[in-house]
Amino acid sequence: MVETLRVELGDRSYDIRIGQGLLGRAGAEIAPLLVRPRVAVVTDENVAALHLETLQAGFAAAGIEMVSLVLPAGEATKAWPEFSRTVEWLLAQKVERGDVVVAFGGGVIGDLVGFAAAVLRRGVRFVQIPTSLLAQVDSSVGGKTGINAPQGKNLIGAFHQPSLVLADIAVLGTLTARDFLAGYGEVVKYGMLGDLDFFEWLEVNGTALAAGDMTLRAEAVRRSCQAKADIVSRDETEQGERALLNLGHTFCHALEAATGYSDRLLHGEGVAIGCALAFEVSSRLGLCSQEDPSRIRAHLRAMGTKVDLADIAGDLPDTDTLIALMGQDKKVTDGTINYIMARGIGQAFVTSDVDANVVKSVLSDALSSR
Ligand code: GLY
Repeated sequence: MVETLRVELGDRSYDIRIGQGLLGRAGAEIAPLLVRPRVAVVTDENVAALHLETLQAGFAAAGIEMVSLVLPAGEATKAWPEFSRTVEWLLAQKVERGDVVVAFGGGVIGDLVGFAAAVLRRGVRFVQIPTSLLAQVDSSVGGKTGINAPQGKNLIGAFHQPSLVLADIAVLGTLTARDFLAGYGEVVKYGMLGDLDFFEWLEVNGTALAAGDMTLRAEAVRRSCQAKADIVSRDETEQGERALLNLGHTFCHALEAATGYSDRLLHGEGVAIGCALAFEVSSRLGLCSQEDPSRIRAHLRAMGTKVDLADIAGDLPDTDTLIALMGQDKKVTDGTINYIMARGIGQAFVTSDVDANVVKSVLSDALSSR
């Protein structure tokens, strides 16, 4: 069964299709968007080895020719060198204004290829075919595209909405347990930020879902995408509410920078740790009860994902350095960090009114318990 959600954005509205076997029928899904039977696909080495043949067959079945570029896997790809390589390859393939570019991979590929599509010939359409849980529930939806700068993550980019998102749940079966759980950090984030009922559903179903239950996986992806679609429809360019999706991300981005964007800490793991820290700060500020951070940490522990700074291998910088790294975040305005805090599970809000000493003490406690 394939479910369809809609991101309502006027003449830039698009569908998110969620189900098993979508790669094999990608041609039929994408054909209505094409002006000629040809697509340019950009992917990475890992995804190509596992799934590119299936995708190609899916296009061939609909009489669509596919050309492909395979980039190195990993966060380091999301930078100027591979970006310019991608743009130049797309030009060499004579991709025209009316053509469709396909981003086939996880968050790195989706962000980089979406940004390439945003600037190629001043903008061509693109389709997201996300292959990681993180990309299926978060990065492929909503049109945030871009690459990293030496100064920080995602500092160069554009809003450019895809024309279609195809989330093939079957592909999640080829993820490592660690990658799956990292994506789960973004799933549980939706519960923590705005939907206590979803959080409770995850407390009950999270373990079975991680163990491979396809029905539960589809339901988790659907509920996450619905939450994201609703928020993006109301606030496409993050003038307000969309910032809630950054729950845990200010801490996460600082930790990712501190660990060199390496596989010491995957993005979704940083999100999980960051959400636990955000609730700890909220609790110490008296915004939410003390039980909330404990409950969140208990659920993340039960899932087997990273929860504490102690779960990050190797050295971490001191509190002041982490705070300075948090100051590099995009959510800083006029030198003030905008935090996502919570009045309870499912009740996040944006505020710059956070006592820096409380953040400092939460971080230094977390560092000293390593
Ligand atoms: N990943 C956060 C957002 O799309 O707004």
